[in-house]
Amino acid sequence: MKPSRSWIPLLALCALLLGVLAPQAAAPARAQGLVDAMRGPTPIANEPKAPLLYPTENKDIRRNRNYTMQPPTIPHKIDGYQVDKDFNRCMFCHARTRTEETQAIPVSITHYMDRHNNVLAEVSPRRYFCTQCHVPQADAKPLVGNTFVDVEQLLKRKPGAKGSSN
Ligand code: HEC
Ligand code: HEC
Repeated sequence: MKPSRSWIPLLALCALLLGVLAPQAAAPARAQGLVDAMRGPTPIANEPKAPLLYPTENKDIRRNRNYTMQPPTIPHKIDGYQVDKDFNRCMFCHARTRTEETQAIPVSITHYMDRHNNVLAEVSPRRYFCTQCHVPQADAKPLVGNTFVDVEQLLKRKPGAKGSSN
């Protein structure tokens, strides 16, 4: 059924009211200031002052991995290392054939495998851009809380304890 002409002003009024009231309903949250652990109390519309960048840890000591398939974090600086279609600075040291000279850990076999697990002669395109998975670290205070427990500790927990397997 088409709305008769007399309904049209009323419909228009409803639409107008919705338009005016809906943003107001969201306003209290903004007024209280949404506090986000990383953003802080800065209102959404304002730009917060960027925190200072911490210096990259450059101790050359390999760090613990938190689980077997974790990409290890980078224990050295990577400032200005070129990684593009012409050259991969990381592979200049981390390639199988460069290990003797550089004493860098060669990239593991998974880096040569395509998605069907075929082992290629060269680093697989899906592992070419190293910093997609490997990142340097800074000695900074964590921005958000973290209750991660290593699976080795989980296995040692007494049966029935929180997070144990039985
Ligand atoms: C000049 C040689 C060199 C270059 C270039 C280089 N690395 Fe390294 N890398 C090393 C050496 C040597 C180590 C062993 C620890 C150390 O001495 O820092 C290492 C360690 C690592 C580790 C730790 C491995 C583990 O098992 O803990 C990762 C990850 C890594 N590098 C990633 C990279 C990435 C990604 C790049 C490029 C952005 C890169 N490296 C560029 C020499 C290099
Ligand atoms: C898609 C994610 C991904 C990319 C991209 C990637 N890696 Fe890895 N890397 C991993 C994972 C996961 C591991 C640990 C398990 C393994 O060996 O596969 C690892 C392990 C390593 C190790 C330690 C090897 C060992 O035997 O202990 C080195 C060194 C490394 N990567 C360097 C590199 C370099 C250099 C590049 C770029 C050419 C690169 N990775 C690209 C995920 C990645």
